[in-house]
Amino acid sequence: MTQQHDFTPHRTIAPLTEAEVRERLGHKQMIENIGQMDQTYLDGIKRILTVSADTELLSAPAYYRAAQDAPSTNAYLSAMSIIQDEMAHAHIAYRMLEDLGVDKQKLVYERRPEDFKYPYAFDVPLDNWTELAVANALYDRAGYTLLSDIFKHTTYGPWHRALVKVDKEEQFHLRHGENWMKRINKEPGGHAKLQKAIDWMFPLTVEWFGLPDSHKRHNIQIEYGFKGYSNDELRQIWLSTAVPFLKSLELDVPAYWDEQQQKYILTFPFPSEFDVSTKTWIYEDKPIGWDQVMARWKARGAMNESYVREIQRGYKDLYGAQDTGIGERRWADIIN
Ligand SMILES: [Fe+2]
Ligand SMILES: [Fe+2]
Repeated sequence: MTQQHDFTPHRTIAPLTEAEVRERLGHKQMIENIGQMDQTYLDGIKRILTVSADTELLSAPAYYRAAQDAPSTNAYLSAMSIIQDEMAHAHIAYRMLEDLGVDKQKLVYERRPEDFKYPYAFDVPLDNWTELAVANALYDRAGYTLLSDIFKHTTYGPWHRALVKVDKEEQFHLRHGENWMKRINKEPGGHAKLQKAIDWMFPLTVEWFGLPDSHKRHNIQIEYGFKGYSNDELRQIWLSTAVPFLKSLELDVPAYWDEQQQKYILTFPFPSEFDVSTKTWIYEDKPIGWDQVMARWKARGAMNESYVREIQRGYKDLYGAQDTGIGERRWADIIN
């Protein structure tokens, strides 16, 4: 059964039943379009694609801010080339959403800032070149970890093919971060600057991977094979390359490899409370509840509004007089 695509922004209905989709997936057949989805698959893939697209898009203003502190023209240009990659990655994911019946213009330019779905880490300002280097080494590594999993395991054919290019570029971003960190580490005072950045950015990236598996009741993302690994598995994969790299620069890292348990163990209470105004963690004797973390994520952080408004500014200037909904629409209203 197939369904003709049109690109008008109305609610799209997936034609298959859950049993039909599960049978198809059971035969290891990829899903290629809406005609091969049930409503759960369609809603789920829209959500995960939005998270991916928004993360790529918001990294652009975040990196742009820090790039103003680039130590040379060459360094500035390398940051611009990364930003250009991220915009392309965002475009790929939004373009796929368009094929699923979503209005891309509305999604990017008419959505309210708090309805963008990207990791909390990008709500915290990157204030200098050292923090950009660490962001490339840690945040892009998280992006690379997540996207490599999707590339290897996703059941959505168009996404699998699109990620060939994205995967390679993310690898370049994280190497860029590593190279700069090695360089900064040798400069006078550089080691201390890196340590200061690691102290707030490392735990924030650990948090990036989301709720621990023990808190997830139902995991449609894995059942339907949008991705392959669980949150905790992805967190461990990230730790397995991030920790050795940071240790090679003799930085203090609040995590170590436990031989007996065959996994990385965190040495700080996880999760904890974060003070965004001072970019410091408030460590109590024991971890806080995940409901508190979710409340912080939901409230978004310092940069959310200004980054999104920066992205939407030109569109608002052009169409603002005609459409009062710009920057005010909810995600759920645009996506359905
Ligand atoms: Fe990217
Ligand atoms: Fe990247």
